[in-house]
Amino acid sequence: MKNEILSEDLEYIYNNLSDNEKSKLKNSTILFTGCGGFLGYYFMHFFARFAEDLEIKKIIGLDNFLTGTRDWLNDLSNNNPKVILKEFNVITDSIESIEGASEANLIIHGASIASPIFYRIYPEETLDANITGLRRMLDFYKLKEIKGFLFFSSSEIYGDPFPEFIPTTEEYRGNVATMGPRACYDEAKRFGETMCYIFNQKYEMPITIARPFNNYGPGMNINDKRLPADFAKAVHEGRDLIMYSDGKPTRTFCYISDAITGYLKVLLHNKFDVFNIGIDKPEVSVAEFAKLFSKNAKKVYGYKGDVIFDISSDKEYMTDNPNRRCPNIQKAISILNYNPSICVDEGIGRYLKFLKINNGKLL
Ligand SMILES: NC(=O)c1ccc[n+]([C@@H]2O[C@H](COP(=O)([O-])OP(=O)(O)OC[C@H]3O[C@@H](n4cnc5c(N)ncnc54)[C@H](O)[C@@H]3O)[C@@H](O)[C@H]2O)c1
Repeated sequence: MKNEILSEDLEYIYNNLSDNEKSKLKNSTILFTGCGGFLGYYFMHFFARFAEDLEIKKIIGLDNFLTGTRDWLNDLSNNNPKVILKEFNVITDSIESIEGASEANLIIHGASIASPIFYRIYPEETLDANITGLRRMLDFYKLKEIKGFLFFSSSEIYGDPFPEFIPTTEEYRGNVATMGPRACYDEAKRFGETMCYIFNQKYEMPITIARPFNNYGPGMNINDKRLPADFAKAVHEGRDLIMYSDGKPTRTFCYISDAITGYLKVLLHNKFDVFNIGIDKPEVSVAEFAKLFSKNAKKVYGYKGDVIFDISSDKEYMTDNPNRRCPNIQKAISILNYNPSICVDEGIGRYLKFLKINNGKLL
């Protein structure tokens, strides 16, 4: 593999799966919607890299490339006969038309738009990918013999939790606005979870729901407009890091290789349940996160920029932005043996090294 950060991360993911989990991938055909996005980057590279070792039969990646990118995917499918790539819209295209889709027995529904800037540009598409798109996938697979179905929900289903619900457990029901700039995403994910619940009740589908908490790292396109991507882009271009808030909101940032390990464990759980996937410490402010970027950028890029505050020209930039986001991950630790270990300082360093090697690109 050309980028050593990526290849080390893929090994890390492999080594953190149990033998039992690895054996569940044997003879599988995996179908992944939204494969051209950030999480798709590691999923698709992981499956391609270990397809032989894990005896995976085929990996079918689907994306309409509304926000995803395809140069690296073309490269992956051109170099691996087990990887099939199709341009496909989960809202309108017929899954029957995809060769091999009927044989797929591990399904991952990741198609959505995850970046707040972009889901506000495409609110209907965001609703539809998580509601109509998910519904069509559930209908197609409800009577088929599948081993697992992973639905990507979000920590955003919790909205802006009251302080006593932080760290947030899976039981918390949320404090979410039905109307507002983020509602298209948050409420679509909530309704998606309800559909998963109903299809499990009615058809006994082995659906497992992951609620991701703020992932970052290689694979996140620097033009994605999520916070880590904005900082990475500024570093790569030698510009100052700009914060469009007072820097006080806090998050726990989960590095991509820990997150993907968690999602694979969720997928291979093979029965209905819901899990927070993220890291529970440290909870850092956006200002501290910027400082960690700056510190690592000095080492990796010889960066000389500053961290500065500004006011966004976008009036809705901070509307309904949660003040604190921190998961309780005890459920995933105890049931799935999930054990994230890469701290935010190290993860930022890895993201920047990856970008330096790749000159800011994914391929
Ligand atoms: N990365 C995170 O920290 C995070 C946090 C919470 C939830 N999630 C969820 O996890 C999933 C993957 O996240 P990501 O960060 O890779 O998102 P992403 O936005 O980077 O990628 C999503 C992909 O889905 C594709 N897509 C959108 N609409 C589609 C459609 N109608 N048909 C086919 N493809 C379509 C996009 O082109 C894109 O390639 C999403 O469902 C997201 O909501 C991610």
